[in-house]
Amino acid sequence: MLPFSGPSSRWASLLALVSLLCALFTPTVAVKHENFKTCAQSGFCTRNRAYADQVSSLGASFTSPYALDPKSVTFSKGQLTGTIVKTLPNGAEKIKLPLTITFLESGTARVTVDEEKRQKGDITLRHDSKARKERYNEAEKWAIVGGLAVSKGAAVSKEAKQGTTRVVYGPAGIFQAVIKHAPFGVEFVRDGEVQVDFNGKGLMNMEHWRPKIEKEPKEVKEGEEPVVEEAGMRSSEDESTWWDESFGGNTDSKPRGPESVAMDVTFPGYEHVFGIPEHTGPMSLKQTRGGESNYNDPYRLYNSDVFEYDMDSPMTLYGSIPFMQAHKKDSTVGVFWLNAAETWVDITKSKVSSNLLSLGIEGHTDTHTHWFSEGGLLDVFVFLGPTPKDVTSAYGELTGYTQLPQQFAIGYHQCRWNYVTDEDVRDVDRKFDKFKIPYDVIWLDIEYTDGKKYFTWDPHTFPDPLGMEKQLDAHDRKLVAIIDPHIKNEGGYPIVDELKSKDLAVHNKNGDIYEGWCWPGSSYWIDCFNPAALTWWKSLFRYDKFIGTARNVFIWNDMNEPSVFNGPETTMPKDNLHHGNWEHRDLHNLNGLTLVNATYNALLARDKSEEKAGGVRPFVLTRSFFSGSQRMGAMWTGDNQANWEHLAASIPMILSLGVSGFPFAGADVGGFFGNPSKELLTRWYQAGAFYPFFRGHAHIDTRRREPYLAGSPYTEIITQALRLRYSLLPAWYTAFHEASVNGSPIVRPNYFVHPTDERGFAIDDQLYLGSTGLLAKPVTAEGAESVDVYLGDHESYYDYFDFTVYTGKGKHNVPAKLDTIPLLMRGGHIIPRRERPRRSAGLMKWDPFTLVVVLGKDGNADGTLYLDDGASFDHEAGAYVHRRFVFDNDAVVLRSEDLATEGKKTKEYLRAMARVRVEKVVVVGAPATWKAVTQVEVNEEGDKSSGAKRMVGLSYHGAEGGKAAWAVVRDPGVGIGRGWSIAFA
Ligand code: GLC
Repeated sequence: MLPFSGPSSRWASLLALVSLLCALFTPTVAVKHENFKTCAQSGFCTRNRAYADQVSSLGASFTSPYALDPKSVTFSKGQLTGTIVKTLPNGAEKIKLPLTITFLESGTARVTVDEEKRQKGDITLRHDSKARKERYNEAEKWAIVGGLAVSKGAAVSKEAKQGTTRVVYGPAGIFQAVIKHAPFGVEFVRDGEVQVDFNGKGLMNMEHWRPKIEKEPKEVKEGEEPVVEEAGMRSSEDESTWWDESFGGNTDSKPRGPESVAMDVTFPGYEHVFGIPEHTGPMSLKQTRGGESNYNDPYRLYNSDVFEYDMDSPMTLYGSIPFMQAHKKDSTVGVFWLNAAETWVDITKSKVSSNLLSLGIEGHTDTHTHWFSEGGLLDVFVFLGPTPKDVTSAYGELTGYTQLPQQFAIGYHQCRWNYVTDEDVRDVDRKFDKFKIPYDVIWLDIEYTDGKKYFTWDPHTFPDPLGMEKQLDAHDRKLVAIIDPHIKNEGGYPIVDELKSKDLAVHNKNGDIYEGWCWPGSSYWIDCFNPAALTWWKSLFRYDKFIGTARNVFIWNDMNEPSVFNGPETTMPKDNLHHGNWEHRDLHNLNGLTLVNATYNALLARDKSEEKAGGVRPFVLTRSFFSGSQRMGAMWTGDNQANWEHLAASIPMILSLGVSGFPFAGADVGGFFGNPSKELLTRWYQAGAFYPFFRGHAHIDTRRREPYLAGSPYTEIITQALRLRYSLLPAWYTAFHEASVNGSPIVRPNYFVHPTDERGFAIDDQLYLGSTGLLAKPVTAEGAESVDVYLGDHESYYDYFDFTVYTGKGKHNVPAKLDTIPLLMRGGHIIPRRERPRRSAGLMKWDPFTLVVVLGKDGNADGTLYLDDGASFDHEAGAYVHRRFVFDNDAVVLRSEDLATEGKKTKEYLRAMARVRVEKVVVVGAPATWKAVTQVEVNEEGDKSSGAKRMVGLSYHGAEGGKAAWAVVRDPGVGIGRGWSIAFA
């Protein structure tokens, strides 16, 4: 004890000690803001925002300096070409910007603007740079896989106003593009109204190439702002961020100088815009230019390893999809800004009040968006809907739909950093069985490797990987192992030797191999833009090369933004060079996609016999992504935290990804950083059971938290959530199938399901599972005993477990004690499920089905089921079952109809499935007249053995205490892959 320490000073030192201990042991839970740029710290962001400010301050006296030369305009075969001329302030210099507007067969329009001088290579680069001179024009090569067929019907209309060219296009010619010559702009019209307006606000900006003129720095007097300027304005410009730019101790040499591209896109009459993931915050995007509860910075898209990210923020995260939808009552439109460079999007809204209010005609809100990218082409696709489904499917037609995953991939995944030995993995596997908890996949994080050298195993901790995989395989389970793109720079590691000798790594601006730091320490990065790197990468995954991997091993690609611990903004310098001498700046946001593409293709080619048999569907999880990544696997939302805010944030994030074309998404269940309370963990499993990608994961410093460790009653409740997921796998798989053929989200927000329900457009804390009518509202608040579920229409909704009925548009309070998942079934749907608890999805292959027929208010219901072997590509040759179940109230009959198209392998598959039957039909909301019905007539087509018609028993349970009546037909004996009918009267 210290001399003279009185009570108060003792308290003070105790307090100091406590706060010191807290500081030592409480994990810091905030993103390192200083590592990432704000708009004010990004040259082109500042320049484009300043340009927008000047345009708005000049008001009517401003004229955009971009004009389409009418003499240059030609139209042929669905394509308009011409030259936009940008006139510089001195009036003398005119910059030529070739324009193409392509009208696609699908009804999508594409506007592309390039820069003539750069197309021709007629520029000089500074610092003897080897970088390409063109604007980056290969984003299309990676992102687009279809939908580019040009419209035959699009035509120039003779009715164009003076100074415009009008093109009529789209299905039955219902769309129009009105191209304004001077200033240049395009209005996209449907139903006689402008839906999407380009350059209506005059913010188009294409920073043309110019030589650097060394001039004496202009003195800026104290207190005087440097003048920011672009074409169309005064003549002295602020060049401070044109030629190089420093941030966090790194200097970007910018050999081509300023080259950003920008456009304003207005959605007149649209109050909500969705999309442009990945961000936290509400699904209905916020305004970004300040004001109460708005953001101050634009939404940023620059794939980054943002450790411990913020809630409710426009900050960039790991992936980006520059696709946005605008929605108003009964109309959805969208734009896809195809640009792989760093991009920012400002959003503002303006209320247009009507002076006809007295007549009951209300005003409306316009949403203005301002997009700018650091370089590349201006290349934008416009979708005119009119439904949300039309827009997502047209976007998917271009960038590809989610590949139908293997069945195991939609089961539960158990991960942590790290399962430390192969015996540890075996033990976890056994414990799941002991506690009768289903799971499909166990994961290995980076510690399984020998010193972070990918494609190796630590010989001490993983001496017998094949033995471990064999144990998993005994219950049809899989292993996913991590392989990151950084390759350890260490002597005697054959992989790095090959990478170097074959020259397949990313280069620095001088053309030497680029070296940086990641998990292994000093590392190099494979350049997956290089076709030779793809060939090499493919060879590494062969079973005879990646020794220790069996057929049940799949891959996790992480850190592929790429994450570089000592790089600017934790990534690569922008002046690094990739294959073809494209600068990293040009293609940064595509980097993650190219790695997954390489891995996906590698998994298709692991050995000859597998390839010969047609191959199995790869599974790859990625952290970084771009438009198109959805074709190759699943994504997760990165390093979240074990707190309620992160649990709540996961729902809008996943919904937003779903409507942006990447529906196979999930968040780390339990939270990556920190230790969740048991209640939080339990609630997270209940929410995770409704993530398309369902994986528990945790940081290396966290305590173990496999579901069986939680103890009673948590383990039992979590097990129930997992079993619910497994019993609904047929519904999930059907939703995945739908996503794979038309791009519909797997989990859907209210506006997508109820596009006319204005009150529900911004709702983003509850989700519909595919087209099944299942509506889940995960509990994301501590201590909750009930939640409000929002119903978007007047249909009847029934509690999934006890059939309590909820009717009426608006909010309904639904019980939600810890052991309850608020889950409703919308009337009018038929939900397929499998009720036998199994250890894994694979073991459910031959299990019978239950059909839950949820009668709608009109007494009808329908639903679909898609089913295949859940592993191979045989479904492409017709080896699948696709049924539509219809309950027809007039005939009082439940029918199974065929939706399949017969292929080479259909018969064989149906033969194999012949013994898989429907074991139960539950009819929710069964009419009271059925009380007297004890038998129903089953009629199965082609059922010779038992005769065409059979009678089976029905049991009826009357309505009571707010719960609907229901009836059960037990064992109707009908085949799941067959046509049949069950007559109830
Ligand atoms: C990254 C990943 C995380 C993983 C860790 C170690 O932080 O986001 O999921 O566990 O790296 O590989």
